[in-house]
Amino acid sequence: MRIQWPVIFSFLQQQSALLLNSRQGSFSVGTVAVPVPGPNEVLIRVEAVALNPIDWKIQAYGMVVKTYPAVLGSDIAGVVEQVGLNVTAFGPGDRVITQGVLGVNEHSGFQQYSLGYDELTAQIPDWMAFEEAATMPLGLATASLGLYNAYNPHTSAGLLPPWEPTGRGRYSGKPFVALGGSSSVGHYVIQLAKLSGFSPIITTASLYNAPSLLALGATHVLDRHLAPETLRAQIGNITSEAIETIFDAVSISETQNLAYDLLAPGGSLVLVLQDIIEEKRKSADRRVVTVDGRIHYAPSRAMGVSLYAALSDLLENGEIQPNRVEVLPGGLEGVPAGLQRLQAGVSNVKLVAQPQARATVAGR
Ligand SMILES: NC(=O)c1ccc[n+]([C@@H]2O[C@H](COP(=O)([O-])OP(=O)(O)OC[C@H]3O[C@@H](n4cnc5c(N)ncnc54)[C@H](OP(=O)(O)O)[C@@H]3O)[C@@H](O)[C@H]2O)c1
Repeated sequence: MRIQWPVIFSFLQQQSALLLNSRQGSFSVGTVAVPVPGPNEVLIRVEAVALNPIDWKIQAYGMVVKTYPAVLGSDIAGVVEQVGLNVTAFGPGDRVITQGVLGVNEHSGFQQYSLGYDELTAQIPDWMAFEEAATMPLGLATASLGLYNAYNPHTSAGLLPPWEPTGRGRYSGKPFVALGGSSSVGHYVIQLAKLSGFSPIITTASLYNAPSLLALGATHVLDRHLAPETLRAQIGNITSEAIETIFDAVSISETQNLAYDLLAPGGSLVLVLQDIIEEKRKSADRRVVTVDGRIHYAPSRAMGVSLYAALSDLLENGEIQPNRVEVLPGGLEGVPAGLQRLQAGVSNVKLVAQPQARATVAGR
């Protein structure tokens, strides 16, 4: 077998990575090999990586990841450096996003170079900053899979996606409720609900975030600090139609119960965390599902491929807008402090690191 020189080049290269050294252990920046793209994979120079709650939860609770040291980071934006066999849609120099795979170091974003699967990678517009693009993969996947993954109805409302033929505007005139609209996931839920035609689109947030949520497509922003019964009454004043689709992007006990009380018979409530609604409160005619945002996994992949096939056009047309960004200082070294901030709670912003900044490995 003939080995191409870029493969040897890549294999010999080292890079900086933020390592979670052991289960519930500490983070430190270390040196690991640059991965080599296999068939249908691309090697991406990571210019920006966004932080997600799952990253601090993995460290705090020892969940999801089995092998250490572990590289985390699900939201990858950068430049294609090299492509593996059979990759035809991308070439070196392409600006792209992809979603990291939790538990697979080579496919993770808190490092300078990551792999992506070609069918789950999308080009981003020339005018879009890497830092903005990095806000999208996990949040958009979670919103999309929760609403549209008909391949796995136990985790999704199973609606027709707006990027499929006849999907655009399909739910025109039907009301939609998104609890937690100013969260990263909530932003994408609102935008997808708009593309699906839902109206009104009612969301909850701190009211100082209302202008940005109205700009994304929400029609009504209610104060998330109001008592559940007050929110219910306000929503009842906005629409008397049956609310058949609700996405709870917060999914604490209070929001889950509010959402369930709002849900019409025959409707679907999508949660982002485990269902903790008391069984005795439930009726068989109202579905409650918890989304699984891991787009690579078998029951999600087909919908993921269809989303990524459409994504470049959705971004180019401005139909999907990124989250608001705050860039963390210090490259990978800045990530642990960012995760602490995320755990304490952020408002309407995605924290983003730049792995190429302050690289500690010579020659890269
Ligand atoms: N199941 C999955 O696969 C999956 C995937 C991704 C995320 N998640 C989970 O989804 C949750 C959201 O993630 P994220 O990254 O979108 O979070 P995030 O951006 O960090 O969420 C912060 C936002 O939450 C809002 N918020 C907090 N409490 C609220 C409440 N009671 N009502 C309404 N809004 C509230 C805040 O709103 P204001 O600042 O406006 O007050 C803030 O803007 C996390 O628990 C995460 O672990 C699950």
